[in-house]
Amino acid sequence: MAEVNVMEQIVSLCKRRGFVFPASEIYGGINGFWDYGPLGVQLKNNIRDWWWRCMVECPPIGPDGHPVQIVGLDSAIIQNPQTWVASGHVGGFNDPMVDCRECKSRFRADHVAVVAFNKSDELVIAVGVETTSEETAVADALAAMNSKNRRRVEQAGDEISTTIFMADKMPDGVKALCPKCGGELTEPRMFNLMFETYVGAIRSDEAKAYLRPETAQGIFLNYKNIVDTMRVKMPFGIAQIGKSFRNEVTPRNFIFRSREFEQMEMEWFCQPADARVWYDFWKEQRMNWWESLGIEKSRLRYRDHDKEELAHYSQACVDVEYLYPFTSPDFGELEGIAHRGNFDLTQHQTHSKVKMEYFDQDTNERYIPHVIEPASGLTRAVLVLLCEAFTPDANRPSQMFFKFKPKFAPIKAAILPLVARDGMPEVAEKLYLALRDRHIVQLDVKQNIGKRYARQDEIGTPFCFTVDGQTMQDNTVTVRDRDTLEQTRINLDQVEKFLADRIAE
Ligand code: GAP
Repeated sequence: MAEVNVMEQIVSLCKRRGFVFPASEIYGGINGFWDYGPLGVQLKNNIRDWWWRCMVECPPIGPDGHPVQIVGLDSAIIQNPQTWVASGHVGGFNDPMVDCRECKSRFRADHVAVVAFNKSDELVIAVGVETTSEETAVADALAAMNSKNRRRVEQAGDEISTTIFMADKMPDGVKALCPKCGGELTEPRMFNLMFETYVGAIRSDEAKAYLRPETAQGIFLNYKNIVDTMRVKMPFGIAQIGKSFRNEVTPRNFIFRSREFEQMEMEWFCQPADARVWYDFWKEQRMNWWESLGIEKSRLRYRDHDKEELAHYSQACVDVEYLYPFTSPDFGELEGIAHRGNFDLTQHQTHSKVKMEYFDQDTNERYIPHVIEPASGLTRAVLVLLCEAFTPDANRPSQMFFKFKPKFAPIKAAILPLVARDGMPEVAEKLYLALRDRHIVQLDVKQNIGKRYARQDEIGTPFCFTVDGQTMQDNTVTVRDRDTLEQTRINLDQVEKFLADRIAE
């Protein structure tokens, strides 16, 4: 319960302080869409720029001791619809869905369980509940039940037995029940997650196109262009950051699963024989990268996919998971690192009739490269940093602060004249002008100093430089450290270096 509360606090603070707003709010919102406010977009850009820096501009050192080669790309969101036939998204990007015949709510069939409570083979009550696992279904059903039914179950005591069916695997003759109203659910039906649109003036089937559900396919479509123009040699990577769209059936948990989101994906092309080595390499690199955002090690983990979970073409897949407040004590997905074999390039070769083979001058071989794909969500990374940085603190007026690593904080420092007179605003503005060329800083003159500190805590500003009476005499300002609340004095001409050093850490 406490953890749910944390999410409520984060969501409300994000709205109140300009990180994330519900999209189209004045019209009642639109489920699964979010707008990033002034601070949210800055936080998102900081993560995006760090990923690009670490992937494209300054990629890691490979197992041979030399930097690996990765180039950037920004492909179109709408591509020829054949792309999605070849990739398998038109035929297979489906979730099994059930609809309630009474209240018309729609659920993912593999997220609905029907739990029957029996006493001596007689049914006490059967309830439908939204849950992702059979293991927790009974507890979830009890939690979701009204108090009258819960009493009936509790009165039956130890004699009670339970049967659980997931709505995507109901036995013949048994109907699934709606978690919302208890009404009867339909049989599972497949539901394609791609948003459709029409290109051109005529709304015919021939004009139908799709908003991309992943950035990855734009990379495969340009693989040949890059090989032909960029003098890349195997192995190499192509990286892309951009919007993706999925008509998710159950968008939820704030920005965790939304219908419009941003991805950061890299396709690493390599010799088939080396793919396993590169899979292990990227698995390790990606975890290091998440730690570099300042995320506590104990809240990150790997989860290897079971054989049954793997797509038919995939030889291995591992998720990097985070301990979100709403999944705790369990972890939830943050990034997937997949060994995709040569599936995508082979599919595009078959459907487009354009050869995707690579001639390797080192080995004198011709082959379709294998691909390792680290694929993560940028907007999901924003959520992780918000959850990670949220720090309750009963001893400060704001009752909390966002403990962002300075490199990722939306505002790096606030410049505050103690009072709006005696020459202090003028000195503060001069300092602000000297800093804003290099750093994102805020000049805040109004309100009493306590309120201004509280506001900066709420938006996670790591440092406040305060111009006070002493500044006018000795050219020093106080530095207030967000995390320790310590105040020290430094010279005005030291401020830029002080800030630059901490942001670089
Ligand atoms: N190209 C492979 C691919 O797209 P995915 O696991 O479907 O793989 C990769 O997506 C990452 O994109 C996920 O780990 C997650 O971080 C993010 N993601 C996927 N669907 C999302 C959604 N509906 N909302 C927010 N982020 C999402």
